[in-house]
Amino acid sequence: MKKFTFLSVFALLSLAMQGQSLNKSLSTVTSITEIAEGVILNTAHGNVKVQVYSPTVIRIQASKENSFNTSSYAVIANPSKGIFKLQKEESKLIIHTDSCILEISKNPLRFILKDKAGNVLNEDEKDFGTSWIGEEVTTYKKMQENEKFIGLGEKTGNLNRRGEGYTNWNTDFFAYPSNGDPLYATIPFFIGIHHDKVYGIFLDNTHKSHFNFGASNNRFSSFTAELGEMNYYLIANSTVAGIIKSYTDLTGKMEMPSLWSIGFQQCRYSYYPDKEVISLAKTFREKKIPADVIYFDIHYMDNYKIFTWDTNRFPQPKKMLDELEGMGFKNVVIVDPGIKVEKDYKAYEEGLSRDLFLKYPDGSNYTGQVWPGWCHFPDFTNPKTRDWWGASFKGYVNDGIDGFWNDMNEPATWGQRFPDLVEANFDGQKTSHREWHNVYGMQMARSTFEGTKKLMSGKRPFILTRAAYSGIQRYSAIWTGDNRPEDDHMMAGVRLVNSLGLSGVANAGYDVGGFAGEASKELFSRWMQIGAFCPFFRSHKMIDAKDSEPWSYGEKVEEIVRNYISFRYKLMPYLYSTFYEATQNGMPVARSLSINYTHDPMIYDWKYQNQYLFGQSIMVAPVVSNKEINKVYLPEGEWYDLNTERKYTGKQELYVETPMETLPLYVKGSAIIPMQSVVQSAQEMPHDTMYLHVYMGSGNNSYTYYEDAGEGYAFEEGKFYKRQIAFDAKKKQLLFEEVQGNLPSKFTNIKLILHGFDAQTSVKSGNNKMSLKQETIELIPGVSQFDPIGKSIDGKKSTVKTLCIKNNQAKFNVSW
Ligand code: GLC
Repeated sequence: MKKFTFLSVFALLSLAMQGQSLNKSLSTVTSITEIAEGVILNTAHGNVKVQVYSPTVIRIQASKENSFNTSSYAVIANPSKGIFKLQKEESKLIIHTDSCILEISKNPLRFILKDKAGNVLNEDEKDFGTSWIGEEVTTYKKMQENEKFIGLGEKTGNLNRRGEGYTNWNTDFFAYPSNGDPLYATIPFFIGIHHDKVYGIFLDNTHKSHFNFGASNNRFSSFTAELGEMNYYLIANSTVAGIIKSYTDLTGKMEMPSLWSIGFQQCRYSYYPDKEVISLAKTFREKKIPADVIYFDIHYMDNYKIFTWDTNRFPQPKKMLDELEGMGFKNVVIVDPGIKVEKDYKAYEEGLSRDLFLKYPDGSNYTGQVWPGWCHFPDFTNPKTRDWWGASFKGYVNDGIDGFWNDMNEPATWGQRFPDLVEANFDGQKTSHREWHNVYGMQMARSTFEGTKKLMSGKRPFILTRAAYSGIQRYSAIWTGDNRPEDDHMMAGVRLVNSLGLSGVANAGYDVGGFAGEASKELFSRWMQIGAFCPFFRSHKMIDAKDSEPWSYGEKVEEIVRNYISFRYKLMPYLYSTFYEATQNGMPVARSLSINYTHDPMIYDWKYQNQYLFGQSIMVAPVVSNKEINKVYLPEGEWYDLNTERKYTGKQELYVETPMETLPLYVKGSAIIPMQSVVQSAQEMPHDTMYLHVYMGSGNNSYTYYEDAGEGYAFEEGKFYKRQIAFDAKKKQLLFEEVQGNLPSKFTNIKLILHGFDAQTSVKSGNNKMSLKQETIELIPGVSQFDPIGKSIDGKKSTVKTLCIKNNQAKFNVSW
């Protein structure tokens, strides 16, 4: 030890004498090699490869080696040839694409990303650029004036991450505090905002990484990987939506979810035996609280052994699942990666004989403890293991299981110190836990997705995961793990889901009601209201806590919850079309206001940062459970209070009353929102009329309506119904474009429901005058009088104009 200290001091002194720093940054370019997709640059301190992926995406790799990594678990796109021009100057090289400019200065090697007009989007900190301290590599970027940072996946904290630092290391964090870090998922992608410009950066290095957005310094933002290459993608686009599109072009989009999987889901740790599950399902139906899914947490298994059933609790699983199906319920089982070390247990014996588990460097299987006791862990980075795992779901699928909940896949072990020397195949590139850890959960979800997709005869598998890495959206939805029943957590959850949405994960949710402990009735009720506007909507509660079903908190809460879940089911056509958008351009379902109102400083204010758009046109203003008056911010534009129909102009702060039964919801002027009659599950057909709500506004709007069978893949062969509907404020018309796809809509009629139109409005379809009806509607009902000395609360009624039309395929318009 003494000797080491003496040597280190000596080394430091000799470096100092030579005027050298321990921090070695990329130095002067010594040679340049042009390649088809970019350029390779060598310096005395590291080499760099620059590749153009698309006009908006440029990859920069910096390595101390002469070769560069070519594999990635996240990226599915390839670099493109011939889509840029290289301009060579004495002191710099300049890459021009159709969307951006990358300036590469040679002495020392540094990068500046600009838009086409020459405005700086992102630039290296000129002195540090990309540097190494030992093995650890960091890229330092100049902190721009008033720069804001959003995204970075499942990260707590404010919407604007300025002043914060974060670590990426997938962590099993039970009952994490609402500002805890790191949590379960690693998505090293963020968006920077300054001078009315935006850019994105994705660091694709799976080792532990660190992001600094001006924490403890006022000079730079930076990203660090503890080992491996600096490997990042610069994304240039003029809007946040455009950046998300480019990022998801790179890392993939989600597949169309089955309709049932976007309905309400009921979970608890754990429902058993079978009788309890059936009675739970019956209660939902009796009480007319719509729901689609019931979960089986770990107690369904025999001693927590994956791919088994506890036959005492569930003697006839298939019969029970058939009965659930008969009541319109789908089901999801939990699967954990730990395979119990137990002789004659099939999964264990197969894993052992086929050599599928994670290993110590001496070749023996790693053993760690989780729910079943001592376990081996499948190596999901080995293609052989992925195939085996995927095929092992056959029994579940034959029993009639519909969805698969991948938990504990950070991977979690008791002791929380997974040894770094444990090795994985890493798709042929054998590596240590330091590199494979952050992709383990994603590769488990991938194996589950790919395996069950093959087994489920053309149905869409539903996969949920806790741990994740960039690109997870291709396989699975994410939930934000073991949260707590606290107001702070409810709000943190909203921001986590919004941040995941900014980071390519459109399908995400939190445990509604708070997992670790018991919620007050006010908190549960509020959380269910907000959850009704969460992409993935599931209530979950930990073992040993009191009952936590929609009816467990008294009659009033039950009615409020029924109202909001029912409203989500009314919104199904809108929600499904929003998910369709996610499959096309990566746009999230829960959209942080930073997507549409990026440069409005008010939306980053702590009071308003939780507000978001649910789909294109409904703004949700989440409020805490214990305040009956709250402040809401309406950004630019026209807004209607969804409950009262009162119209507001934007750019103003409001005080709003938020009694327990009312969540503040606002609709954009010119909005087009398709709704349906309430159904009790996605398996029930709604009435044959679509209710198309249209809100008068002074701007134009274009809306894509999408419908398909809600299950299966026939839509890939054209079996869908898609229609563009445009609201034209100047021409005063609603234009229904011709239907695309060859599936008839489930709605044979369209009932137009016009909000905010003048009392005298008359309409024509083509040249035919149509007669409008005046009606009173109630979107979210009130609450009955339960207490003999209490009062009932009326729902908010509004007067609208309506018009029924046939849902014809051809183009037509309605004008006023
Ligand atoms: C983990 C999960 C939780 C689950 C529990 C038992 O804590 O995060 O959702 O209920 O394990 O399986």
